[in-house]
Amino acid sequence: MSSLEDEAVEQNTVEGLTSSPSSDTDTSTGAIITITIGATVPTGFEHTAAEEVKEKIGSDARISKDRGRIYFPITTDKLFQVHLLCSVDNLFVVVAEFDCYQFKESKEETLKELQELASTLPWTNALEVWRLNRTLKKKKGHRKVGNTTRAKSKAAPSDVAASAEAAPHKLPQETSLADSDTKSVVTPDSETCQQDLEETANDAKVIKFRVTCNRAGDKHSFSSNEAARDFGGAVQEFFQWKADMTKFDIEVLLNIHNEEVVIGIALTEESLHRRNISHFGPTTLRSTLCYGMLRLCKPQESDIILDPMCGTGAIPLEGAIEFGESFYIAGDNNDMAVSRTVNNICHIQKRRAEKGSPSGLPIDTVQWDLSNLPVRTSSVDIIVTDMPFGKRMGSRKKNWDLYPSCLREMARVCRPGSGKAVILTQDKKCFTKAISRMGGLWRKLHTVWVNVGGLHAGVYLLKRTAAMFGQTPEDIYESRGRSDAHMNETDDKESSELQPNV
Ligand SMILES: C[S@@+](CC[C@H](N)C(=O)[O-])C[C@H]1O[C@@H](n2cnc3c(N)ncnc32)[C@H](O)[C@@H]1O
Repeated sequence: MSSLEDEAVEQNTVEGLTSSPSSDTDTSTGAIITITIGATVPTGFEHTAAEEVKEKIGSDARISKDRGRIYFPITTDKLFQVHLLCSVDNLFVVVAEFDCYQFKESKEETLKELQELASTLPWTNALEVWRLNRTLKKKKGHRKVGNTTRAKSKAAPSDVAASAEAAPHKLPQETSLADSDTKSVVTPDSETCQQDLEETANDAKVIKFRVTCNRAGDKHSFSSNEAARDFGGAVQEFFQWKADMTKFDIEVLLNIHNEEVVIGIALTEESLHRRNISHFGPTTLRSTLCYGMLRLCKPQESDIILDPMCGTGAIPLEGAIEFGESFYIAGDNNDMAVSRTVNNICHIQKRRAEKGSPSGLPIDTVQWDLSNLPVRTSSVDIIVTDMPFGKRMGSRKKNWDLYPSCLREMARVCRPGSGKAVILTQDKKCFTKAISRMGGLWRKLHTVWVNVGGLHAGVYLLKRTAAMFGQTPEDIYESRGRSDAHMNETDDKESSELQPNV
């Protein structure tokens, strides 16, 4: 650890608590450094995300106490790979972490301490990573032009964290790690040059920023607004940046979960889950959640994978892009859903063609009714689907007929012995009842509890038993009639309340 880091650690000691340093080495030399990346992921799929990080970046991720977050170290040369992860929603670079922050009793004292904290944090490397990240986004063409300004300071980066009394703190200078990297890799085209000219003109402008506080825990004497306001005020004073809630260059994150405090700088402007879908429907799933579901069933080369209730096609589209050695069939009984799926597929194909990549995707779309699929018995390897919860889509009452008939038809088309199904639903009672009556056809292997738009839902991994379809008592479907429909109305009341994640 460099002397700068030692200094930063000392400075971050708050009432005997020491913040974990966010990085290993000073960036002033332009060297590759190690930093900690934080990522928000679909709640329940933290382990899947950690697995993906290990597989693609080779780094061991730590799962935060705060569900839906993981942290992992990377060297800055791998920053671009972080943006290619399929299971992460938002990314940030960690400035400092406190595992056991002792908040003061009174609100005033706590907020004062948060204000004092701002000027003692080791910002330098995190800001350098923010800058490098901006260069990467520029290369990808994702950055929004006209929303970026930067100060042209020649002050050494190490000055940034040195003292609050020093001259107004600016961003790391031009000959930084980020820029040297850009020059060696990219030859600016005319568009980039134009951008650079605009940026030079904007250089004199002050940096705009905002602080976002996420707080969870019932023992805090302050609100997230108060923390964001007071911490933000201190950040503004320290750097002499300008607060702007909408057109900001830098978003500082203050994540407080019980005693855990993590300060970070956002590396994504919008969640990465928006990557595939251009034609949204009423219940479009996040691509990150689709990825988690697909990973659960481990698609293999030449597997036939069905989403019989595809909606906008979010699941099969994610599969066709990320697990492209399988073939996907996306179907729905609603013609609007089918045309949205077709449009989403076309949009991705067009985008790929524009980039010069092969535009074909292993996916087909069909309009069908799931209770009577035009698919041969025992011909499908995997079914991945998101069933109507009975809230925004369908009704709880209808689910009592729909779920058993779906599970039965899925069992018919799925290969006995090896077939799998991954099913998402929030109507857990109806699903559990339906599956308990089909023990001869399906075996429940595992459930992942997830949060879908604030609703506690289950992702069920099922294995098709070896029994031949047509030879088990469950094969004969009987409508449950009024008695079940009545039960369902009672269940509605119970399960409409949000349950805590387990
Ligand atoms: C929860 S939505 C799926 C959303 C989808 N995962 C997405 O990301 O857009 C359920 C879908 O099931 C479809 N559906 C309902 N009953 C069906 C049936 N009997 N056959 C086929 N599709 C059905 C609905 O039209 C709806 O699009």
